[in-house]
Amino acid sequence: MSELAFHARKSVDPARSKSACSVLPVFGKELGDAAAALDPQIDGALSAALKLGDFKGKPGQTMVMPGAGKLERILLLGLGERDKLDRAAVREATQGLSTALSRLSARDALLFAEELQGQDVDLAWSLEYLARHLVMSAYRYTETLSKPKDPLSLRKLNVQAGAALGSAEVQRLLDRGAAVGRGANLARHLGDLPGNLCTPTTLASEARKLGRGNKQVSVQVLEEKKMRELGMGALLSVSAGSEQPAKLIAIHYKGGKSSDAPYVLVGKGITFDTGGISLKPGAKMDEMKYDMCGAASVLGTLQAVIEQKLPINVTGVIAAAENMPSGRATKPGDVVTSMAGKTIEILNTDAEGRLVLCDALTWATRLKPAAIVDIATLTGACVVALGSHATGLYANDDALAEQLLTAGTETHDRAWRMPLWEDYRKQLKSNFADLANIGGPEAGSVTAACFLAEFTGDCAWAHLDIAGAAWNSSPKGATGRPVALLSRYLAERAEA
Ligand code: BES
Ligand code: MN
Ligand code: ZN
Repeated sequence: MSELAFHARKSVDPARSKSACSVLPVFGKELGDAAAALDPQIDGALSAALKLGDFKGKPGQTMVMPGAGKLERILLLGLGERDKLDRAAVREATQGLSTALSRLSARDALLFAEELQGQDVDLAWSLEYLARHLVMSAYRYTETLSKPKDPLSLRKLNVQAGAALGSAEVQRLLDRGAAVGRGANLARHLGDLPGNLCTPTTLASEARKLGRGNKQVSVQVLEEKKMRELGMGALLSVSAGSEQPAKLIAIHYKGGKSSDAPYVLVGKGITFDTGGISLKPGAKMDEMKYDMCGAASVLGTLQAVIEQKLPINVTGVIAAAENMPSGRATKPGDVVTSMAGKTIEILNTDAEGRLVLCDALTWATRLKPAAIVDIATLTGACVVALGSHATGLYANDDALAEQLLTAGTETHDRAWRMPLWEDYRKQLKSNFADLANIGGPEAGSVTAACFLAEFTGDCAWAHLDIAGAAWNSSPKGATGRPVALLSRYLAERAEA
């Protein structure tokens, strides 16, 4: 995957620094400082280019010019009016930059980043966002293509960020952004893999890879036999119809003191969701290979946490199963007993995410966590409510909710809080069991969250419904969300 490296550079003279592509900010019709310093040394070529009027310096607009001397290429990068510079402008500029770089064969570039700050955006934010985004722009799905897509030529981005932050701090911000970007790319890769190549067994071996050669990481895989002994009747009811055995996977990262309570992430890992006996319609059913994106985000986040050696304890738990119809499959009306002892009437076998998660949550509560956050492509209703811009956030703890919302805002991997009121919980009543697994046509994302809330004991818990956020439909592809949100949340916990 991405081999893009970042290097913080001390202040350099733009005319004397050798690079395959020098990236110079432009603010509307006004050259940025680096461009203004370079301009007289190349016979006013930059101001002359602006005068042509083709390049207006709007946020994200780019223009590539042949360079001179040690500069092979010059890339003018629009940021919009200087006094209006905000995070949105930096995001657009980052997008424009990655698109422009992807069209070049330059293997290295030098970005003059000092001016990527303004009233509502500081340099630290810009550097971290830029590194994450550029690493993500290098992602290519190649696994099942006989002719792989063209890779990004760029291998190295040198960043000159001025004196305000110090080059160690600049490097730290770039490294952090890149680590999160690589984590998100791992999540995208696993999400994009087809269901025949990404099974519960595959997720278990991906988890083991994270622990390889690292004393701070241990990986546990519970097989169906063990889960039966533990009484995980809800989870096992989902894999009952499949040839693929379910796995409960736990990745324990110990970066903190051994007595520190772990932060636990629990991911829905349905490697394919046919709906089971309550079979889904055929249209777009292929997209149900993405039903393990919660699990993928747990793996991606753990990878980023491990790479950054965060000084906290984090456990990733993955409830992995395939939801298939067959002669052994669970039927509508069947009643199963969860690990927590609660009985569940399965009225719809397509509401399987909550069934695997409820047993995984019960197992997770036994780890005495500081907090539990589950991540799941749980409901189509969440896509109806929020579309793909926001993840649906539910929480039984206001402080935890705020921390997650803030992490989402800061990384532009946003979430929006939804209610968990008792009034909704009533929709889950059953005549034949303690709970039904569906709550009727109204507020489907909320009732799914209410179901999960029944299995969280007295732990601080939040649920992220990423059904809309986890993948794009055109062009199809996993987004790697919410790895950025989760990584930021954990980094903040480590600093607190
Ligand atoms: N994996 C789906 C949720 C989903 C649907 C995510 C579409 C993204 C796009 C989940 O297992 C499911 O099938 N949920 C049902 C619940 C219903 C039966 C109560 C749904 O949303 O239709
Ligand atoms: Mn389903
Ligand atoms: Zn599902």
